[in-house]
Amino acid sequence: MKYHSDCGLEDMRAMRYHISMIRLWHVSKQYAGLTAVDNVDLTINDDCIFGIIGKSGAGKSTLLRIMSLLEPPGSGELYYGAERVDTLKGKELLLKRRQMGMIFQNFNLFSSRNVSGNIAYPLEIAGLSKKEIRARVEELLYLVQITDKSKSRLRELSGGQKQRVAIARALAVNPRVLFCDEATSALDPQTTRSILALIRDIQEKLQITVILVTHQMEVIRAVCRQVAVMDCGRVVESGSVESVFNSPKTDAAKNLVVG
Ligand SMILES: Nc1ncnc2c1ncn2[C@@H]1O[C@H](COP(=O)(O)OP(=O)(O)OP(=O)(O)O)[C@@H](O)[C@H]1O
Ligand SMILES: [Mg+2]
Repeated sequence: MKYHSDCGLEDMRAMRYHISMIRLWHVSKQYAGLTAVDNVDLTINDDCIFGIIGKSGAGKSTLLRIMSLLEPPGSGELYYGAERVDTLKGKELLLKRRQMGMIFQNFNLFSSRNVSGNIAYPLEIAGLSKKEIRARVEELLYLVQITDKSKSRLRELSGGQKQRVAIARALAVNPRVLFCDEATSALDPQTTRSILALIRDIQEKLQITVILVTHQMEVIRAVCRQVAVMDCGRVVESGSVESVFNSPKTDAAKNLVVG
């Protein structure tokens, strides 16, 4: 199958500068009577690693899906910089979504493709030439330090290596924001540290915003500057990592600190 788009890599590079910050205003989301996200107001500054923490079922993934335009909010408003984006539809929505990179706990890679084939996928969708794709895939393999695995099948990789492939694929079209949903939760402590070091390195090098959802406090402590604590769909506390974890005000934050 051949994919086409009116939007090449250069357009994407230019577009990324249009997002300066993510802002949610009174955002809620219900599923069949259950309130998954409840009236969230949140501002995430550009060019930082922002953590969202909370126990299972708190609404973290739902909020992330809304912020990354995978799902519309039930009510409320979402802004990238000055632009309201929750009302986008059709092609505009698709193009905006492509400025977002996303990685998950279970990697979500294509087992039918090898490492390079996985990383190439979004570039094929964007309609780049074979030559451009080859050059970009090589750059990305180098960035995530798996150059020697370019032709490997996924079953030949460790969890940490798979997450590196997923990160490379997410970064392929130069997103302005990288969303990470429990990206290290399936990894052992040492591999977790190496993936977090890579995320921090990439954030600094590419000056992108990273939004990192986790239920592990040590992940937030290791890489985030700012954090929001979610409980029962609400953001109950937010601020610098030191202030929230050194003097938690809410029971939800206190429970996370004492473990
Ligand atoms: N697509 C959906 N349909 C119905 N209910 C949903 C859907 N997605 C999430 N929920 C519900 O919304 C609530 C919040 O779920 P969410 O996945 O956002 O929590 P979470 O904080 O990411 O949890 P975890 O740490 O376990 O991943 C849960 O009660 C969940 O069952
Ligand atoms: Mg989740």
